[in-house]
Amino acid sequence: MDALPQPYYSTKHGDAYLGDSKEILATGAFDGAADLIMTSPPFALRRKKQYGNVDADQYVAWFMEFASLFHRVLKPRGSLVIDIGGSWNPGEPTRSLYHYELLIELCRIPGHKFYLSQEFFWYNPARLPSPAEWVTVRRERVKDAVNCVWWLSKEPHPKADNRRVLRPYSESMRELLRRGYKAQLRPSGHDISTKFGKDNQGAIPPNLLEFANTESNSRYLRACRQAGLAPNPARYPHGLPEFFIKFLTDPGDLVLDPFAGSNVTGESSERLGRKWVAIELVEEYLKGSRFRFEEFCVGDWVDSSGQKMFIITDPDGRYTTAPKRRPNSGRSKGSNRAKSIMKVSAERNS
Ligand SMILES: C[S@@+](CC[C@H](N)C(=O)[O-])C[C@H]1O[C@@H](n2cnc3c(N)ncnc32)[C@H](O)[C@@H]1O
Repeated sequence: MDALPQPYYSTKHGDAYLGDSKEILATGAFDGAADLIMTSPPFALRRKKQYGNVDADQYVAWFMEFASLFHRVLKPRGSLVIDIGGSWNPGEPTRSLYHYELLIELCRIPGHKFYLSQEFFWYNPARLPSPAEWVTVRRERVKDAVNCVWWLSKEPHPKADNRRVLRPYSESMRELLRRGYKAQLRPSGHDISTKFGKDNQGAIPPNLLEFANTESNSRYLRACRQAGLAPNPARYPHGLPEFFIKFLTDPGDLVLDPFAGSNVTGESSERLGRKWVAIELVEEYLKGSRFRFEEFCVGDWVDSSGQKMFIITDPDGRYTTAPKRRPNSGRSKGSNRAKSIMKVSAERNS
């Protein structure tokens, strides 16, 4: 593939492409453009999911084909955030090291290595105990409820600001701020200065992020069911991409997901006012992901109070609807906005 294909669908802020991200990124269309690559690649799983997960022993070699492209696509102060689950070795209760091997390899690539800015851990309290044999039958292991999230960067000081992801203070911290803090030595010997008593509008979050992944009746899932489309089986919760998008980008920045699945990354970016690019190999997943954007997809038909309407954007870029008519009818010939809002292909509306 030499030229960038037409997007499968577009919204005000983003474009979703159908295809192999290796080929699409190799067109060079996004070189040096992305502030953040936020993604969850297929993991190396013992029991393979529907989209051809790679075996643990081939995983690093498989991923490396993408790594140099990711490096090329990122701006100098951009970040690559990879959500990656662990895996058990076949036939015994021991863990594969594949995701650690990947991390080490990414930080070693000659000429375009990444830095490990920080490792995060996503704790999903709703995770079911598995594999059953080791966890619930033989009781030799506990349930694995944490994914590693590698935050990598091209340079040691990527764009980042933890003030954008502060957590509400605990009740005891609020009480302490109300009463005033008396500086004293901690049991560890650390001298906690009076600065500790300053109200910073929230607590700095830890690198352990807790999000339950329990989506069962969202608009996305309902719409997939109605349309007879299989939802992506490995979706992450919105909280995960939202955290990194807020932490590592500014409004208007570009977020790219090369393994987009149901495009949670695109939806989070759209809501946060970031531009986005999503690439997905499996058409069924990309088709279903459009349902996340019903309220965003310019050019789509919607049923508004029983009347078929077109979603358009007004001159200020706000979403609105117009009565059903052919895309450019009733508009001046020179209206580029009218043309650009009709980027969604006729195929998508069928
Ligand atoms: C773990 S899922 C991503 C799920 C996504 N984060 C979500 O929340 O819906 C990984 C996705 O990568 C896609 N994929 C695998 N190889 C790909 C490739 N070479 N190019 C683009 N997408 C690919 C798979 O089809 C799968 O949907």
